[in-house]
Amino acid sequence: MEFSIKSGSPDKARCECIAVGVFDSRKLTGAAEKLDKAAGGHLADILRRGDMEGKAGSTLLLHGTPGIAAERVLLVGLGKEAEYGDKGYRDAVAATMRAMRNTGSRDILITLSELPVVKRNAIWLVRQGVLAAHDVLFRADQLKSKKDNDKPALAAISFSVASKDARSANAALAQGEAIARGMNLTRELGNLPANICTPTYLAGQAQKLAKEFKLKCEVLDRARMEKLGMGSLLSVARGSHQPPQFIVLEYRGGKAKAKPIVLVGKGVTFDTGGISLKPGAEMDEMKYDMSGAASVLGTFHALAAMKLPLNVVGLIPTTENMPGGAATRPGDIVTSMSGQTIEVLNTDAEGRLILCDALTYAERFEPDCVVDVATLTGACVIALGAVASGLMANDDDLAEALLEAGQISGDRAWQLPLWEDYQEMLKSNFADIPNISGSRAAGTITGACFLARFTKKYRWAHLDIAGTAWRSGASKGSTGRPVPLLTHFLLKRAHKL
Ligand code: BES
Ligand code: MN
Ligand code: ZN
Repeated sequence: MEFSIKSGSPDKARCECIAVGVFDSRKLTGAAEKLDKAAGGHLADILRRGDMEGKAGSTLLLHGTPGIAAERVLLVGLGKEAEYGDKGYRDAVAATMRAMRNTGSRDILITLSELPVVKRNAIWLVRQGVLAAHDVLFRADQLKSKKDNDKPALAAISFSVASKDARSANAALAQGEAIARGMNLTRELGNLPANICTPTYLAGQAQKLAKEFKLKCEVLDRARMEKLGMGSLLSVARGSHQPPQFIVLEYRGGKAKAKPIVLVGKGVTFDTGGISLKPGAEMDEMKYDMSGAASVLGTFHALAAMKLPLNVVGLIPTTENMPGGAATRPGDIVTSMSGQTIEVLNTDAEGRLILCDALTYAERFEPDCVVDVATLTGACVIALGAVASGLMANDDDLAEALLEAGQISGDRAWQLPLWEDYQEMLKSNFADIPNISGSRAAGTITGACFLARFTKKYRWAHLDIAGTAWRSGASKGSTGRPVPLLTHFLLKRAHKL
């Protein structure tokens, strides 16, 4: 798909389709009004007949509109004007793409990017427009022998902006494309089944990425992990025939002495629960338990494509969680790389067991800050659903920056407290710390409290993406979140936002 920026009068635009907005109660937007004038009131007539009321999400495709250069006009409902904002714009671009996908149009000009959204500028509109378009165009058909949409006609999408904004809009277009490609990588990896996407496969993907963008990549095998004392991570891998891997990616775009931002992603390629076996229903979804890892890889893809002037390290502990004969048993006590002993009361709380060793490993980079990303707790799905990721941090400024990145990108997070009071819920009779608390209360927070015991030496934030990384149900699949949040966080750090 080719994306481009256009300026000029909509009625003269030579394209196969032009998309213009209509507000609820049939009010034409500026671009629609210009078309209507050139067409001698044709659009207003159609609205008067009641075929299009401007309801959010509705569209109407018109052919052969007189007086205008485009072959087709797509009217896009924007809902109530007073309520039109970030979501209204994204939804309208998505509705446009859905309507276009199965028509014969090869190119489309979207004028919705000219319509102001409160607090947002043309750059934001273009970047988000590209992301919204890619989201609809993504197909989960990698492993289908017949593709979902064999020959989609649509090959070019343009966003119109005022000519004064054209230059910065082109830069925003490039950012949007880089982020969308990163998200697509994350989604593809997330959707792959666990018989293909093994820890070794993920390591191969990291190496491929490193080669493409000239990054440093090191993959530590079981023997190296043993030497480093990663007894907690290794305890999770014991039940599986797949060897665990520890991926270290380094992007150096910043000054030699600039401290790196470290991103850590949970890479459990399949989570059966281990000996604390999960119930059978919907267990297939546990192939997504490497979504944290996939989002770190996707973020690296975007970051490297944008050549951001930052130093960033990616750490991915990856393993399966299987109930094999050598598997860790409930009650087993293991020693983490930090030296702290852990009583594994539930082998299904494995994410924290692999992350804690990665968080200790992160210390050697003397990080500016560390952000871990993990499908850590079912409790987070109960608390926040699919709308917001859970955010917990030991530093308020870092938390604030991540929340803001979520807000701007539309990939939102919501902060939960990490007060000392919750730490009291993690007590073991036999080891330094148990891997679960005695009660189900505040499950997302106690998961983060466990991690907090390993992050005392740097600024740290934890994103629980159990509810946001994939969709369940009929349209199940990986979402590519939180790549938008992470890339916007990095863009801001690089003063490119
Ligand atoms: N991968 C799961 C978390 C999860 C569950 C993500 C459902 C998405 C949907 C994680 O490893 C897990 O099993 N967590 C347990 C923790 C519990 C044993 C304290 C959970 O949430 O039940
Ligand atoms: Mn689990
Ligand atoms: Zn898990």
